[in-house]
Amino acid sequence: MEHFVEIDWQKVDEIIEKYNGNREALLMIMQDISDIYNYVPPDVVPVLVNKLGVRESLVYRVATFYKTISLEPRGKYIVNVCTGTACHVRGADKIMDALEEHLNIKEGQTTDDLLFTLQGVRCVGCCASGPVITVNQKTHGGLDRASALETVKFYDQCVS
Ligand code: FES
Repeated sequence: MEHFVEIDWQKVDEIIEKYNGNREALLMIMQDISDIYNYVPPDVVPVLVNKLGVRESLVYRVATFYKTISLEPRGKYIVNVCTGTACHVRGADKIMDALEEHLNIKEGQTTDDLLFTLQGVRCVGCCASGPVITVNQKTHGGLDRASALETVKFYDQCVS
């Protein structure tokens, strides 16, 4: 599904000016834009190229390298399923399967209503609580298939 977003160009300019148009601040500028739209709209890329004097390929490299930045629309809630070793041996794959089925998307995808993006990530640093998922900044541990689904359903209810 195609998603369109109305870009507030004045806001984009303000962000670039906040960093004095410094190309070294590319990552922070992209993060600030992402904080508004949950992603960096592709129409912003040529503006970054022109105003910061960076190569387009660098913008794409930053977007590819950092999990917090995307050039694809992302959900209001970013659900990260830890697939690190400790979580893996405790059933992280079953949790991923359950969430894929419930949200009707595959890992790396976003629901059509732009509510959830589902990602697999490496160790999030609380292995003793595994299996672990994070939803935006919040960590949920000690999960099984059922409690992982309950967790995501809770966020679903938060917006209805
Ligand atoms: S392996 Fe999942 S938190 Fe460390």
